[in-house]
Amino acid sequence: MVKIAPSILSADFSKLGEDIRSIDKYGADMVHIDVMDGKFVPNISFGFPIIKSIRNLTDLEFDVHLMIEEPTRFVDEFIDAGADIITIHYESEVHIDRAINYIKSKGVKVGLSLNPGTPVSLIENLIPALDLVLIMSVNPGFGGQKFIPYSLDKIKEVKALAEKYNKDEMMIQVDGGVGTQNIKEINEAGANVVVAGSAVFRNGEIEKNIEALRKAVI
Ligand code: DX5
Ligand code: ZN
Repeated sequence: MVKIAPSILSADFSKLGEDIRSIDKYGADMVHIDVMDGKFVPNISFGFPIIKSIRNLTDLEFDVHLMIEEPTRFVDEFIDAGADIITIHYESEVHIDRAINYIKSKGVKVGLSLNPGTPVSLIENLIPALDLVLIMSVNPGFGGQKFIPYSLDKIKEVKALAEKYNKDEMMIQVDGGVGTQNIKEINEAGANVVVAGSAVFRNGEIEKNIEALRKAVI
């Protein structure tokens, strides 16, 4: 079983509320919210007002992916805005252990994300504290990019660490370039949550696209 987390970065922002209701109606498992600051990644997306404005439209978990420098500065505000899961990048905090434990102390789920070039071995000591590991399968900043093939090896490494530390319930999430063409091998490699932006929102055919992803992983 693999959970599908549509990334709203690829939604139609002229009708964002409608798109949120659609992904909920057509079976998404959580809402992936890509926050970008133009510094950690070469793009700027959106912040607290957008998250607040869609919070009451769905009961789905808000899976907030912070692609920003020193994200600990804003954890409280993202929680106030409605985040259920806060994922930060290993590369974005000098004191990553402190940052992870700060988020945990706030009572929300905590995720740790790795850029493609960052080895899985660097996060082994943090696995016991994590609710989620996010393996970036594209260089972060944009939707619609191509899946980086060596990500499959990293998924297997994270899966092995989850087993080593008895973290069966830990979410192993893959983000970037996921579609019907690769969702099955991504799941078989060990991912139990996939983020999909363009594959879900393409041509505005949300119901059809989510159904196609579900069929492709059977
Ligand atoms: C990229 C974001 C991804 C992206 C996924 O920095 O973290 O969530 O929006 O978009 P697709 O599925 O189109 O690659
Ligand atoms: Zn993301």
